[in-house]
Parts: sequence; C-alpha cells; structure tokens
Amino acid sequence: MTDANAHPHVSSDGKFALIHNGVIENYSQIKAFLVSENYTFKSETDTEVLCNLIAYHYAKMGAQADGQSPFLESVRKALHHVEGTYGIAALCTEHPGEIVAARKASPLILGVGDDEYLLASDASALVSRTRNVVYLKDGELVHIAGKDFAISTLEQADVSPVVDRIDWSVEEATMDGHDHFMEKEIFEQPLALENAMRGRFSADGSTAMFGGLNLTPEEFRNFNRFMFCACGTAWHACLVTEHLIERFARVPVEVDYASEFRYRNAPLDPNTLFFVVSQSGETIDTLAAMREAKRKGFRVLAINNVVGSSIAREADGGIYQHVGPEIGVASTKAFTSQLLLGAMVALYVSRLRDMSFNDGVDYVNALRGAPELVRRALAQAPRIKAIARRYAHYTDFLFLGRLSLFPIALEGALKLKEISYIHSEGYPAAEMKHGPIALVCEKCPSVFFAPKGEIFNKIVSSMQEIKARKGPVIAIATEGCELPPGLADDVIEIPDCHEAVLPIVATIPVQLLSYYIAVERGCDVDKPRNLAKSVTVE
Ligand code: F6R
Repeated sequence: MTDANAHPHVSSDGKFALIHNGVIENYSQIKAFLVSENYTFKSETDTEVLCNLIAYHYAKMGAQADGQSPFLESVRKALHHVEGTYGIAALCTEHPGEIVAARKASPLILGVGDDEYLLASDASALVSRTRNVVYLKDGELVHIAGKDFAISTLEQADVSPVVDRIDWSVEEATMDGHDHFMEKEIFEQPLALENAMRGRFSADGSTAMFGGLNLTPEEFRNFNRFMFCACGTAWHACLVTEHLIERFARVPVEVDYASEFRYRNAPLDPNTLFFVVSQSGETIDTLAAMREAKRKGFRVLAINNVVGSSIAREADGGIYQHVGPEIGVASTKAFTSQLLLGAMVALYVSRLRDMSFNDGVDYVNALRGAPELVRRALAQAPRIKAIARRYAHYTDFLFLGRLSLFPIALEGALKLKEISYIHSEGYPAAEMKHGPIALVCEKCPSVFFAPKGEIFNKIVSSMQEIKARKGPVIAIATEGCELPPGLADDVIEIPDCHEAVLPIVATIPVQLLSYYIAVERGCDVDKPRNLAKSVTVE
C-alpha cells in the first residue's frame, strides 16, 4: 500500500474525487484510451481510471445533460463502460454540496440522518449517526444534492427509496469496556445464541420453526438433498451442519466453497434445496454461487446476519442470525450462531422425517441449554489466557478433531492464523498420520479435541502418536474425563453436552486461545493484516 494508491483518487483535471470498493476488470483498456486522450495518472489503481473516466464524460458532456445533473450523468455514463464490481462515491468541485454514489456487486448503504446523509459499505459505520438507511440495489445510483437525495438506475429510471430501520443500537457497535471487538463478541455469545434461537421452537417443544423459509413443511420434506455453499468460517459452519443433517435426518448433504461451486458446474439432483451461509450477506463468491444456483432453477435459502444484505434480498427465503453487528474481522458470534441455526435446520428436517417426538424434545432442550454451557466454557478464560502466554512464541500449530469437531479444528486453525499470523493447520485427527505427522516435534504444538464418546479411545491413540514424537499437546476434553496421565501438557475442560451442541461449546476454547495468543504477540486483533470484514471482490 502506498500514498499514491490510497483513496480518494482525484482526476487529472482536479475536478473529481472518488472512493471505490471493488474491482474494475477492464481498467487497463479504459486507461489506454484515457492516456490517448491526454489524461495522466499518479497511481496504479483501477479507481483512478474510473475517476478520470467520469472526468472525461463530464468534459465531453458540457452542458448537454438533457436537463439532468451533468455530474450525475457523467458518473452514469462512465459506469456504462466499466466491467467489474463497485461501490463508489464521487465529489465534483463544480457541484459543491453534491455526492453521486453507485453500486454493483459491492455493498453500499445510504444513511438518512438529521440534516445529513452518510454513505458506507456496512451499517455498523453509520449506526452512531442514524438508524434510518436505504440499502442500494445493484445498478442503482444515488444523487445527494443539499437536503435532497434521489435514486435512479443505470438506465435512468427513477427509483422510489425504501428507508429501512437498523434494528440494533449503537451500544452494540461499541466495545463496551472490552479491549477488542473480538473479545466482546466472544463473551457475548451466550446472549447471541439466545437471540438466534428466540421464538424458533414449536409450542410442543419438539422441533424448530422458522418464519422466513417461504416453504411449507411438505415442500421442505420433499427435498431429498441439500447443498450448502459459503466461504471461510461460514463454510466451516456448513461442514458441521452437514454432519448433523446426515446424522439425524439421514438426508445427503453436499458442502462446497462458494468460490469453487460457481465455476465447477457441478451436476446437482433437481430435488436439491440450496443453502448459502454468510454473516455479511455481501461476500461476492457466495452471492455469485447463489445467483448461479438460482439461474439453474434451484430454490435458495440464506442463513445470514446482516438484515437487508444483498444475499438476504436475493434469496428465496432464509433465516436471520439475529446476533447484532459483528465488527471484529475474525468471525466469532456469527460462527456459533450459524452452528446453532444449522443444528436447528437439522432438527427441523429430522422431525419432518424419522426423528421421534421424545428425541425432538431432548434435542430442543439441549439447544435451549447451549447458552449456559457456553457461559461455562467461557469461564475457562483465565486458564486459557495463562496457557496462551506459554504457547504464544510457537510458529506452527496443528488443530486435530474428529467428526463434528473436525470443522472446529479447521476453524481453530483459521482463527489462529488470521489474527496472530502463526502457521496452523486443521486436520481430522486420524488423518494426521498420512502426512502432517511429519511436522510434529517439540516446536509444533497440537490442539486436540478429545470429547467423551465412542471414539474417545481413538483420539487418545492419536495423542499418543504426537507425544511419542515430543509434540506438545493441548487437549480440549470433557469435564471429568480421564486422559491417561502425562498425555496432555495442558487440558482445557468443556462441559458434557448433546452432539448438536458440542461443536458450539468446543469452539469457545479455540476462539479464546487464538485471541489471547494474538494479544500476547501484540497483533491488531480486530483488523488483521490483508483481511477485510466482508470480501466483496473475487
Ligand atoms: C474468518 C472470517 C471469514 C469469513 C468469510 C465469509 O474469521 O470471518 O473467513 O467467514 O470471509 O464471510 P461471510 O460470512 O460474511 O460471507
């Protein structure tokens, strides 16, 4: 990153300034044209190219804007020539008091405040000033001029604005006495889970209910496959959901990275229900995967946190996570609520099929108890902090788990690497002997999930393999569970729980471990290098 490449960019005639989120794919052709028209460039960015393209159309247009604002029309004309994605806001020296903003495949929200308008890509940036917002749609421009604003499309059609109300408060977007948003969001997970499940159990307490599926129970029952697409942490949540749906409902599930699905043209059974999972609802790969699935005629449901996001708007139905804004770049409460909602979808499908009333009641009671179990897991924080201090200097980690905790091993490794820059890998514990075991030595600790259950002894054998090679072991084990003496260097206990809740509870220690290690190493936890909260470029 250099000063020359930093936004805003200014056109070479000095008239326009532009900020831009996204990628202009055909910028080199446009640049070559503008260079031939004597426009000059100070940076290597596609944004400066777009800014000069606006200046070019403005100069060409003169006063010929068909009664429209020449500023607005020059932005509109320029956008007709660009390929790619953008959320932009432009200023013009000849139109003081005006802003023109537009979006295509990058989020853009207009805040309607008291005597002011605000533009942002995420509602959390606006909420301290206003809770009234307009979510711009793809291909829309907003022209703010003094006290007024007007929305139109790239094709010059007027759009009546819909002003939505953000349903969370500014307190939810502040750190509330915590050192970092990530810490705050880890500790608010019991409440987040309560909010995510609130009002979503049937009156007889034996199944889940969702208001926004736009499918009758009969229609839902008739799907004989499910496909889940997501990116990053949300993809890990899908893997756990796959495990639970297949385990309890016995319906086959496929999970794919959205970025792969959109290009691999997978053959899908026509009777497949498609899910996308995304905290932000703006991840471009997930959005594109969803559009591809819809194009092929599949019904798409979204599990999503940000109300009014692109994914929420375009899905055929869905389930909001209701966990409030997640501001730390590393996903925490959004992840555990995705696990919870995935477990509830598994319950819903199971009860439409073979699961008995009594098993449904047990399952529901277990989910209702999840916030309290998470509280108990969080109570281990001082102990995990002390462990983190002793492990913060290591440069490689393995995270090992089996069955529904294999995705949590992936999540632990992702959390650690993204916020502390320590190389870490997640693996199914038994798969370790097929390669990763070569990494094991006194310099490479392994974090093992060792919950009680039928494969506990298998996990113990994998731990013995690590110990035999002098690898330090941190075990995350069920309270009161007897590990052979000397096998683990450190043990973090989690409460005993139902299978559907175990992944949620087991996530807490790895979130805390990663967080405290990153703090110990002096890392910028909430804004790790090279990462963005929502990835709106391909
Ligand atoms: C990691 C993390 C990312 C996101 C991914 C998808 O902590 O936050 O891996 O999970 O970029 O984001 P959403 O869920 O907004 O689609």
